[in-house]
Amino acid sequence: MKPKVFVSRRIPDRGLEKVLEFCDAEVWEDELPPSREVLIEKTRDCEGLLSLLTDKIDGEFLDQCPKLRVVANYAVGFDNIIVDDCTARGVAVGNTPGVLTDTTADFAFTLLMSAARRVVEGMDYVRAGRWKTWGPMLLLGRDIYGATLGLLGLGRIGSAMAERAKGFNMRVLYYDPYRREDLEKELNLEYVDLDTLFEQADFLSVHVPLTPETNGMVNAARFKQMKKTAILVNSARGPIVNTNDLYEALRDGEIAYAGVDVTDPEPIQTDHPILKLSNFVVCPHIASASIETRGRMAEIAADNLIAGLKGEALPAPVNKGVIAKRK
Ligand code: GLV
Ligand code: GLV
Repeated sequence: MKPKVFVSRRIPDRGLEKVLEFCDAEVWEDELPPSREVLIEKTRDCEGLLSLLTDKIDGEFLDQCPKLRVVANYAVGFDNIIVDDCTARGVAVGNTPGVLTDTTADFAFTLLMSAARRVVEGMDYVRAGRWKTWGPMLLLGRDIYGATLGLLGLGRIGSAMAERAKGFNMRVLYYDPYRREDLEKELNLEYVDLDTLFEQADFLSVHVPLTPETNGMVNAARFKQMKKTAILVNSARGPIVNTNDLYEALRDGEIAYAGVDVTDPEPIQTDHPILKLSNFVVCPHIASASIETRGRMAEIAADNLIAGLKGEALPAPVNKGVIAKRK
């Protein structure tokens, strides 16, 4: 008999076909995520769960799904999962690292450039019928080449940003709790402390995971340290940046601009005043959303799920060494 699994949203066929071949799978077809009660009800008798970053997986959830042996998250970030709770119960957890690194860095750079060169304001201007002639002072932005990029976090995606910055002849500063001397020469990076990072960056791009330590770490005090001409880019997780502090910093000119792909809450309330600001660009969490990358993420999530069900090591483990133990 095929193992029962729940797939909490339709994912690209490249992964879904593998899941359907190996498992007795139920797929959630709605655009919106299942509620917690529905997720529990659907997963109660399952051995595997292919989850999204909108599904909260913790001890209380796991205790109601006693057969669950593997959670394959369709994302690189796994702040939606209390990993220790999974490990304590012998539930293997997988994510989708690597394949989305360049796609996400491409998008973070897109946000950076859109903010620096006021692309969305330009489009609004044309759409509003305001484009009458070539204007010497029209929509002046900031240069990217030669500017200082501050990377908050130097994991895979942060490093890929540094590679892109090389082509723009940027000076690149980084802060990460783990200093990466091996990369400093190759990517021409300067390791600095947090204060220096915020004080010197023309562009400050967030590439840390969301953890209790990083939650809210980009806040009013940090905006005060930044240059008034600085641009913030967030393609990591919304709650790392305090939304109301960001709103006030943009409104009051503490910083010049922000380009973000993630918000807190997510989605951002449509009546939030930040959406009225012209120096704010936001996208609906699409940094990894290329056709190729979402297909590869689906494949890795499927491979993680199937390995867990077979009692094998996951190809992309989060709690490495936890081989699904439950019966
Ligand atoms: C998306 O945000 C991811 O973590 O993959
Ligand atoms: C995520 O893949 C990161 O390490 O930045």
